[in-house]
Amino acid sequence: ARRIVVLISGSGSNLQALIDAQRHDRLCGEIVAVISNEPDAYGLKRALEADIEAVALPHREYDSRDAYDGALIKVIDRHEPDLIVLAGFMRILTPRFVQRFLGKMLNIHPSLLPAYQGLNTHARALADGVKQHGCSVHFVTEELDGGPVVLQAELNVSSDDTVDTLKEKVHAREHLIYPIAVQWFLQGRLKYSTESATMDGHPLPPHGMR
Ligand code: GAR
Repeated sequence: ARRIVVLISGSGSNLQALIDAQRHDRLCGEIVAVISNEPDAYGLKRALEADIEAVALPHREYDSRDAYDGALIKVIDRHEPDLIVLAGFMRILTPRFVQRFLGKMLNIHPSLLPAYQGLNTHARALADGVKQHGCSVHFVTEELDGGPVVLQAELNVSSDDTVDTLKEKVHAREHLIYPIAVQWFLQGRLKYSTESATMDGHPLPPHGMR
């Protein structure tokens, strides 16, 4: 089976969606380790609960970003993953790290990329009064939240939405689409090559599948 390593920083609800997908035979792969830069992340408990190796690797114990990413590479390499899944991993990665896993690292982001890269996506979308919002799964490249998009879920913003309601709606969509995109990758249907992505050999549209 293909081997998956998941990186988290927090609650790990996307990790849970992947664990549930694996449990229901919707992933032709196995989550072999979960690594968190925050030792108290609830997601580590979810991993243990599912009998998955849970590793806390606190970034505060390292002097530089490069030293941390070096340590992270070592831990990841030990597990010989086919795929690295970023699931709410709230750290900017060094170019060395990104290059090391280029083409085999996916991220989920709470916006319809390329709109609202970075943080506080829901508040910014609300402030702009956009009618559509959502989430995106993309390959990770050196450009922050800028790698080729694979899959998006779109939702309508209603006039009474708040940051909290929007966040909740987006989360529900994330839990639907991330296991699908991960499964595509595991099946070998999804490929990355020089700043673009293909699905079954066909180039994906700029916004990915929707
Ligand atoms: C998710 O909404 C994910 O899109 C976001 O963090 C949340 C993690 O939730 N990621 C980013 O903002 C990446 N920059 P979870 O820990 O419950 O999966």
